[in-house]
Amino acid sequence: MIGRFNHVAIAVPNLEEASKKYREVLGAKVSEPQPEPDHGVTVVFVELPNTKVELLHPLGEKSPIQGFLDKNPSGGIHHICYEVEDIIAAREQLKATGARVLGDGNPKIGAHGNPVLFLHPKDFYGTLVELEQAKPAA
Ligand code: CO
Repeated sequence: MIGRFNHVAIAVPNLEEASKKYREVLGAKVSEPQPEPDHGVTVVFVELPNTKVELLHPLGEKSPIQGFLDKNPSGGIHHICYEVEDIIAAREQLKATGARVLGDGNPKIGAHGNPVLFLHPKDFYGTLVELEQAKPAA
């Protein structure tokens, strides 16, 4: 069911400092911060030759990553993202096995403009898993 690895997301306490470190210390190509109000985060994309890293910082009062940063004040890996071809088919297949989908269970539009869902970390070895419906190959 899962296809390509899409990205790993790291929650950071200071987005400017983290962007600078990825750009200047690690020498990576780093985007400008992009606010994602629907997801309660500001994202910086780190473009690598074979994948992406996303640096996440809370945006707004009810950010879903605030609690994570409270528990991990110096930051940490927040989730990993796998691509799927059909997110509704994937969701139904997973639910049938007892896996829990977070939120209301309906896909939201993610940071790349594609539908995404999150799976409960307790069902996947302590790792929050994001599924993203990849754009069909042109
Ligand atoms: Co993500």
